[in-house]
Amino acid sequence: MLAIHIKNDENRSLYLAECPAPKYDRDDVLIKIHATAVNRADLLQRRGHYPPPPGASEILGLEAAGEIIAVGKNVAGWQAGDRVCCLLAGGGYAELVNCHCDMLLPIPANITFEQAAALPEAFYTAYANLFGEARLRAKEIVLIHAGASGVGTAAIQLARYAGALVIVTAGSEEKLSRCLELGANHAINYKSDDFVERVRKITNGLGVDVILDCIGASYLAQNLSLLKRKGRLVLIGLMGGATAEIDLALVLRQRLQVVGSVLRSRPLDEKIALTRHIRRKVLPLLRNGLFQVVIDNIFPLAEAGQAHAHVAANRNIGKVVLRVV
Ligand SMILES: NC(=O)c1ccc[n+]([C@@H]2O[C@H](COP(=O)([O-])OP(=O)(O)OC[C@H]3O[C@@H](n4cnc5c(N)ncnc54)[C@H](OP(=O)(O)O)[C@@H]3O)[C@@H](O)[C@H]2O)c1
Repeated sequence: MLAIHIKNDENRSLYLAECPAPKYDRDDVLIKIHATAVNRADLLQRRGHYPPPPGASEILGLEAAGEIIAVGKNVAGWQAGDRVCCLLAGGGYAELVNCHCDMLLPIPANITFEQAAALPEAFYTAYANLFGEARLRAKEIVLIHAGASGVGTAAIQLARYAGALVIVTAGSEEKLSRCLELGANHAINYKSDDFVERVRKITNGLGVDVILDCIGASYLAQNLSLLKRKGRLVLIGLMGGATAEIDLALVLRQRLQVVGSVLRSRPLDEKIALTRHIRRKVLPLLRNGLFQVVIDNIFPLAEAGQAHAHVAANRNIGKVVLRVV
């Protein structure tokens, strides 16, 4: 099969080349991939900073959509020809991938392969962190950083649907408008405004219950200062650095919770449980058009390098997709 490989040059250039097709186990299906999507983690893995967990494919790609072409002997309920999408621990930037059958999501008829490929990482991450880690409830206030990111666009819709008041930050007026269209109640341009001041004003000085943060160190002090008593900061990314000082007195006094969370290295049974939640709670809302998968751009798989450059330059609103066939 063809897949994207990483050259050992200064640029860590991406190129398309032949390699052996993946083997599929008795609980797996083999999928002919129609589309996959780019994640920030792919940019890190390409540079050698985010290695795949043991046993996972070395090929980039944390999600894919396509059709089943073969099923393992223990697989029930799925058959060749089914349109599916899935979260992967690797292997998406390719023509074929294997996937445990309990990790599959059926693609609703109104959703294209490109949309389906862009669904798993964004919606699993947002769902697992807003409702699993942060236990966000109706009427609470949530601050979502990088609101126009792939994860952010899913998180806005999920949080709003759950009845929370949603405040986002983003870096351009175009991104802010899109976040508001998706359901954010307030959108703050962190480049031209002090987001701490703005959040205080919006919340009448109360602060927020939950923060979904992918920035990390450079926002830590501001984030903690904005949390209400028993507030929860869920850290899902480190785009603003990994090392910072923390005011533990504030954490103690305000009874705050600071939680770190990753998806890729979670054990299979946790990912399967999450898949069931997504299938039950999120797919119906995508099927009836209440939620949307926000796609910024679609590149052919062979242009994965250009797609990465687009994401690295923070140009995307929502997801960048790679079309495989
Ligand atoms: N823990 C997990 O399981 C998990 C899973 C998936 C993703 N993630 C993380 O979630 C984050 C979003 O992922 P994604 O793929 O959805 O991202 P994305 O679509 O590539 O968007 C990221 C956006 O973050 C903003 N940004 C970048 N650097 C920044 C900085 N230093 N300070 C403030 N804002 C910055 C940029 O938007 P602006 O123009 O608004 O600045 C950029 O477009 C990433 O950190 C990713 O690693 C974590």
